[in-house]
Amino acid sequence: MSLFSLDGKVAIITGSSRGIGKAIAERMAEQGAKVVISSRKADACQAVVDAIDARHGAGTAIAVPANISSKDDLRRLVDTTQERFGRIDTVVCNAASNPYYGPLGGIEDDQFRKILENNVIANHWLIQMAVPQMIERKDGSIIIVSSIGGLRGSPVIGAYNISKAADFQLARNLAVEYGKHNIRVNCIAPGLIRTDFARALWEDPEALKRRTATTPLGRIGEPDEIAGAAVFLASPAATFLTGQSIVIDGGVTI
Ligand SMILES: NC(=O)c1ccc[n+]([C@@H]2O[C@H](COP(=O)([O-])OP(=O)(O)OC[C@H]3O[C@@H](n4cnc5c(N)ncnc54)[C@H](OP(=O)(O)O)[C@@H]3O)[C@@H](O)[C@H]2O)c1
Repeated sequence: MSLFSLDGKVAIITGSSRGIGKAIAERMAEQGAKVVISSRKADACQAVVDAIDARHGAGTAIAVPANISSKDDLRRLVDTTQERFGRIDTVVCNAASNPYYGPLGGIEDDQFRKILENNVIANHWLIQMAVPQMIERKDGSIIIVSSIGGLRGSPVIGAYNISKAADFQLARNLAVEYGKHNIRVNCIAPGLIRTDFARALWEDPEALKRRTATTPLGRIGEPDEIAGAAVFLASPAATFLTGQSIVIDGGVTI
């Protein structure tokens, strides 16, 4: 089997109707995985499923809409995947929220709570739900999409950055807890990537210029440039890698 093959594996990817999650799902399917496409909008998920199935064969992908804020939705996501594909080898906790821009001094409790709930606690829920069958099979790869924001302070997205820093520690802690079951837990920390989520940071030409001036590779990233790391972390190439974070940012944090 090729070092990077995902043949026979099943992956749930949250937030996979567009952006980074969609790119991860497409590349995982290309490597042979069955993929579960999930976001809040059924139509958007189905469009991604149709495109993946057209390329890789009917039944490669299924759509299971789920809001990560809802424990019931996440339970349905896991149960439906089990019913349809019989196993879950990889969970990619990719969907996240950032409803507040500004200094921490001005954030409402509900906004801070929403950020921590969606970006940290929801990841914990989904992992907790998917892990028992991984423990039974003594195999699993969990991937949390964090951010380089979790490595830095910011006057504008402080609460989001705190949540992403917590994701690094969530991966480290779960790696300790589940290592004995051969379940690996890692993060990917993207820099600025051209998606809707980060539109405010790249659409304005002046902001983009400032940003790329301090980026060694001189540009921002594309969603597909994150997908390879997710394939790697889910594949036989990464079987001794756990509790780590892979920074993919064009060098901006160095
Ligand atoms: N883009 C960047 O520069 C960047 C940098 C560092 C880290 N990241 C991280 O990368 C991840 C993906 O972001 P992206 O840039 O790819 O964003 P994106 O293009 O806006 O995609 C976000 C995805 O998440 C889904 N989603 C949003 N809220 C959700 C919820 N409550 N429940 C379920 N699904 C939800 C969206 O679909 P629906 O709206 O249909 O639900 C969509 O599929 C996030 O964790 C983000 O923090 C992004």
